[in-house]
Amino acid sequence: MTIDSSKNAVSVIGLGTMGHGIVQTFALAGYQVKAFDENSQAVLQLHQRIAANVATMQDLGVIDQVNIDALLSRIQCCTTESEVLIDSQFITEAIAEDLQIKQEFFARCEELVAPDTLLASNTSSFPMTEIASQLEYPERAINTHWFNPPHVIPVVEVIPGQQTSEQTIEQAMSLLQSIGKQPVRIHQELPGFVMNRLQVALFREMLDLVGRGVISAEDLDVAVRGSLGLRWAAVGPMRVGDFGGWDILAKVYQVLAPEIRSDSELPQVLDEMVDSGNLGLKTGQGFFEFPETSQDEIIRDKDNKFVAWGQLLKEAYKE
Ligand SMILES: NC(=O)c1ccc[n+]([C@@H]2O[C@H](COP(=O)([O-])OP(=O)(O)OC[C@H]3O[C@@H](n4cnc5c(N)ncnc54)[C@H](O)[C@@H]3O)[C@@H](O)[C@H]2O)c1
Repeated sequence: MTIDSSKNAVSVIGLGTMGHGIVQTFALAGYQVKAFDENSQAVLQLHQRIAANVATMQDLGVIDQVNIDALLSRIQCCTTESEVLIDSQFITEAIAEDLQIKQEFFARCEELVAPDTLLASNTSSFPMTEIASQLEYPERAINTHWFNPPHVIPVVEVIPGQQTSEQTIEQAMSLLQSIGKQPVRIHQELPGFVMNRLQVALFREMLDLVGRGVISAEDLDVAVRGSLGLRWAAVGPMRVGDFGGWDILAKVYQVLAPEIRSDSELPQVLDEMVDSGNLGLKTGQGFFEFPETSQDEIIRDKDNKFVAWGQLLKEAYKE
């Protein structure tokens, strides 16, 4: 099956942090998209939210001028679940992170769509094998794991379940490529997939070092941005290893591996942050301060930085 962008080919369910940006990405690439959320406010605000995102991206020069009315006309806001599902060729959910809710959602999809309609989850934690365990045709179910903000971050991890067919994997990969994403195939269904495993491995050490006062949170951000982060963004960590030489890395690894954190206890500083309610942006205070009055501006500034750096990388890798 080829997914036809001119038809109501793509349906997105759940229009929160992730879903609205996923709708935007498909619509910007020319797809007709149907969108639904059980919260009618999220549906009502969808066009406005996307128009604001697109205006920012245009101001930053990262996308060409688009006819916003034409873009929004490609996004059909649905008021019922059946309306959003019917006739769809690719369904992707970004609803609550709850195994039972996702299982039940996909079971309802199967009653309404053709057996070859692709069913994609954006789950951050559940194996697709489990989400699809009660489906009649689990071979068409796949996890396409986007990163926040989904309309900005290029990579999508593609994680098949045990019963996902090769054809489904290829279709999902080429669909994501057709909308300008960089799908990366993950070959084993491990908890946390790949990127979240790396993130936790690094946070374990970073929080330990900050908690022990070895480096301040502020300086850690400065140091990572200006060293590892820059090198990884520019060429990727495996190439950094190749450039540095694996013999050197092997020696450094042997000395340092016994020194760094390897247990599964919550780092003390993380425990303290959570206990004291210093949860970050959402409470106004984390390692850094986020005054309530300037939160919108802070979020915009962060998103603009993501967009600008994403654009730099795109330019650097232009063939
Ligand atoms: N936020 C992230 O950084 C991130 C990153 C990658 C993946 N994810 C995953 O994406 C999914 C969505 O996360 P989010 O951060 O966008 O959550 P969110 O809370 O911002 O949005 C979820 C939306 O889904 C709606 N919803 C919930 N159940 C529904 C249902 N049964 N039918 C229709 N609408 C429903 C809610 O009303 C809400 O608007 C989760 O599975 C999450 O784990 C999140």
